[in-house]
Amino acid sequence: MADIGLIGLGVMGAALAHNLIDHGVEVCGFEPLADQMARPVTGDFPVAADLPDLVTRLTPPRVILMMVTAGPPVDAIISQLSAYLSPGDVIVDGGNSHYQDSQRRAELAVSKSLSFVGLGISGGEAGARFGPAMMAGGTADSVQIIAPLLAPIAAQTSDGSRCFTDFGPPAAGHFVKMVHNAIEYGEMQLLAEIFGLGKYAGGQSNSQLAELFASWADRIYGGYLVETSARVLRQVDDQTSGDLIDQIAPVAGQKGTGRWAITAALDLGQAVPTLAAAVFARSLTVRAGEQHISAASDSHAICPAEQLYDAFALAKLATYEQGLRMLAAATEHHKWPLDLAAVARVWRAGCILRGPLLETLAIRLEGGIDAAIDDPDLAGLPALRQVLAGAATSAVSVPALAASLSYLEGLSEDRPTAQMIQGQRDAFGAHGFARRDRPGVFHAHWSSAEDR
Ligand code: 6PG
Repeated sequence: MADIGLIGLGVMGAALAHNLIDHGVEVCGFEPLADQMARPVTGDFPVAADLPDLVTRLTPPRVILMMVTAGPPVDAIISQLSAYLSPGDVIVDGGNSHYQDSQRRAELAVSKSLSFVGLGISGGEAGARFGPAMMAGGTADSVQIIAPLLAPIAAQTSDGSRCFTDFGPPAAGHFVKMVHNAIEYGEMQLLAEIFGLGKYAGGQSNSQLAELFASWADRIYGGYLVETSARVLRQVDDQTSGDLIDQIAPVAGQKGTGRWAITAALDLGQAVPTLAAAVFARSLTVRAGEQHISAASDSHAICPAEQLYDAFALAKLATYEQGLRMLAAATEHHKWPLDLAAVARVWRAGCILRGPLLETLAIRLEGGIDAAIDDPDLAGLPALRQVLAGAATSAVSVPALAASLSYLEGLSEDRPTAQMIQGQRDAFGAHGFARRDRPGVFHAHWSSAEDR
């Protein structure tokens, strides 16, 4: 009898299965799309013929981890599977599911006396194989049932803790994963913009830029995505023997988690401009070439490497802070017992965001979300401004860097502009405005256009 059933033996599912086996967990797999796979599903662990077979091979209470494509396939399998399960069995959805779907599926599971866990898993194939970060949320006691099986296969941080965290209700794990992905989009876009500045404004070669990113990798604002950017720039194309980066079509894909996060932020009334800029920038790549604006520019602003780092650092911090603030708002809105420092801790290893900044944020967030950005961090503002000015004169598009600067400036009270919005609202719609010098709501007798 197996300790866990694993449905979906694609890249992530198979890697998780091998990780579990390495940790002494007996796995029985099942591939719902086996008949469509190029190669037969075989391996070094038992594979069930169908769902009833899988269920009979598991020790009760059964734990079944689903690693299938998010969306309707998850519902279809839960619906078939639940007919064979017994009260107390736990269905775990390890895909990138929408958090509201996890809530709905948990309610459905409870109506059938089953348990459900929405489990965000990050780290790609290598993470799944050797230690991912896992963000769980589930129905009563369900996470405690799965933790002894799954926590030991999670990534381990330098202090020895495992990146497996129970965030409470069924929707919370996938919400945390969704925000992780939105920050991932933001940091990836920032790195793409730095690449663009170095390449088009600075005239640097791929290998020079690879060196630049590699030199940042171990610094506080370095980390896995910075290191990955260096790796991408160094990859040789096996078709042309040139740099692969020069052959990759500049059209960005996206599966939805970034977009979901922006929608959720809007619903929560949270400003996440860098995260949104990153999603919009990906969408815009699909339309590249529609307009023929000459990018030729006489002025090439070559930013010193340290200025680029400082600009990236502050923009990255603003990106993370936006995601974390959105999590704080969701926690308050949904009354989730979600601890922001625990979120930063679970992201320290295994996941795509991993890097030294998370160690710092894990400590800072013990003091609450307002401690995420510290005053000395703002010393990077002049660098960010100069890099943006250089980008503008060099005709390089940097929406995420720009959004980060506007975000930080929007948080400052030095040069407000919303008095104009309030004046306009009252002038055309009598919406009222507050005054700086006295409390209350005021209306002005606005002069009409004809009076002029
Ligand atoms: C991870 C990643 C992983 C994947 C996302 C984003 O944490 O391991 O976030 O889940 O990269 O699915 O994919 P898209 O860029 O295609 O939206």
